[in-house]
Amino acid sequence: MRILTGLQPSGRLHIGNYFGAMEPAVRLQDEGEAFYFMANYHAMTSTGDPAALRENVRGLAIDFLACGLDPAKAFFFRQSDVPEVNELAWILSTVCPMGLLERCHSYKDKVAKGLSANHALFAYPVLMAADILLYDANLVPVGEDQKQHLEVTRDLVGKINERYGEGTLVLPEARIREDVAKVPGLDGQKMSKSYNNTIPIFGAQKKIRKLVMKIETDSTPIEAPKPTENSIILDLYRFFASEAEQAQLKADFEAGGFGYGDLKQRLFDAYWDYFAPMRERREELEKDDAYVEKVLADGAARAREEADKVLTRVRKAVGLR
Ligand code: TYM
Repeated sequence: MRILTGLQPSGRLHIGNYFGAMEPAVRLQDEGEAFYFMANYHAMTSTGDPAALRENVRGLAIDFLACGLDPAKAFFFRQSDVPEVNELAWILSTVCPMGLLERCHSYKDKVAKGLSANHALFAYPVLMAADILLYDANLVPVGEDQKQHLEVTRDLVGKINERYGEGTLVLPEARIREDVAKVPGLDGQKMSKSYNNTIPIFGAQKKIRKLVMKIETDSTPIEAPKPTENSIILDLYRFFASEAEQAQLKADFEAGGFGYGDLKQRLFDAYWDYFAPMRERREELEKDDAYVEKVLADGAARAREEADKVLTRVRKAVGLR
């Protein structure tokens, strides 16, 4: 079985990315051949700053390694180090109806937010399909927001295989864990950089504590019981606490006598402890650029070999060879 996922290097990794994709990916690296990459071509749809792009890739690589990605097990690489992905994207785009892309939420949302719609933003899902199909991936662990992109990918496989023969491309499947599909942000909406409601997984203690204190709550007085339904604090706490701790926090909500400040502090403490070992590992990796570079170079070389096999097969099937 081949498992594949990508993350965009678009600044600080947040706990939505972590629980939606990174943590499942790290767990799955023992269950098959894993391909994990940093989608820097994709990130170009939202940044035009070369220094930031470079630095964000470096930061994301360190984050991923700190969080347990094992380069001895997984192929770990920069998307752009296997530029063949663009050729497959082109081939896919020849069978991709405009309507399929026009219907994509992520494109429609970005346009609605006033981002100017360049061709790359429109064609984003085709490149993402190519990312997946270039490695014959079977399973793609992602958060809920990528579901539609996986459907586009599957549609494109159907169209290619229908035209050029079964087996030209392998049909992948999304792996979306229900309980972590949509990690809420500080305001209760999906945690997302574009909503400015994220809690990063790494960063200065004071700064992150301040963010956690910003979680939206109602105005129930300290002594009164707090509503547990739709509580962002409780919803986030479940990621970091045992069942018993979760039950205790819920009971304290219901009993009253605790202010939201106290309850948020408990969430913050649990969060801070959870990422402690990763934070430590991250500090070590920060000092070892040469190691990180070597991991990515090796990963790219190995990934490229696999990509070549698939692309050779596809080129023959479509008549380029
Ligand atoms: P990106 O970089 O926006 O997000 C990376 C992963 O994090 C998940 N995620 C979340 N999961 C749960 N709750 C949230 N609040 C939350 N926010 C983000 C995303 O679903 C994603 O799995 N297009 C992709 C990158 C990509 C890719 C690929 C993924 C490029 N090529 C091929 C898989 C396969 C993206 O922008 O993810």
